[in-house]
Amino acid sequence: MKVIVTKNYDEMSQVAANIIIDVVKNNPSAVLGLATGSSPIGTYKNMIKDCKENGTSYKNVSTVNLDEYVSLNAEHDQSYAYFMRTNLFDHIDIDQNNTNLPCGVAKDLQAECDRYNGVLAKLVPDIQVLGLGSNGHIGFNEPDTPFDSVTHIVDLTENTIKDNSRLFASIDEVPRQALSMGIKNIMQAKSIIMVVSGKNKAEAVKGMVNGKITPALPASVLQLHPNVTIVCDEDAASLL
Ligand code: GLP
Repeated sequence: MKVIVTKNYDEMSQVAANIIIDVVKNNPSAVLGLATGSSPIGTYKNMIKDCKENGTSYKNVSTVNLDEYVSLNAEHDQSYAYFMRTNLFDHIDIDQNNTNLPCGVAKDLQAECDRYNGVLAKLVPDIQVLGLGSNGHIGFNEPDTPFDSVTHIVDLTENTIKDNSRLFASIDEVPRQALSMGIKNIMQAKSIIMVVSGKNKAEAVKGMVNGKITPALPASVLQLHPNVTIVCDEDAASLL
């Protein structure tokens, strides 16, 4: 596990974007695994800037996203489908038919998980972007999710509902469930880059990097992956 400590969020975002852009330059048909949340927004901004200014093309790139809220359709402004369009896809030359997310309003959610596992069997990310939940979750794999899990329906923890309520009008509007790639799916990526910023993540970063490998802290599984880069700002790294 390689850890790069940056001064702040902006530097973290630039470093992370450069790593992803290099993957796309080396392989114009790369598969990118993507994440939502506040952490990767700056990374995506830099990718957009580079696409516009330097012409890095996403024409032949495919993407798979980590997760989606149950019950929010793709037009809902808090859905991850909406997040991805507004924070990245609408601003680069990607073919949106090549972008994939689980569908949170599918009639049969388990069938949707099975469908998504089929997508992931064909599209193995060259690089998977991750954020980190303050309780150590990755994707929406909450503490005690088995390491051999694949895409599944998740009951969100109170901690995650509270963390994510800042983006909703009230905590009651935060969906209680999500569909998420499992830990096994995430670990299949050829390389992984995690962006983490802020003091509230410092404890989880410490456990992930130096702690015991345990389902109680899902991100600790990354110690077992051969090609992981953690890009974190000084606040997130403050307990290392
Ligand atoms: C959500 C997402 C995760 C993300 C986490 C951290 O729960 N499902 O993929 O990593 O939030 O979000 P933030 O970057 O906003 O702190």
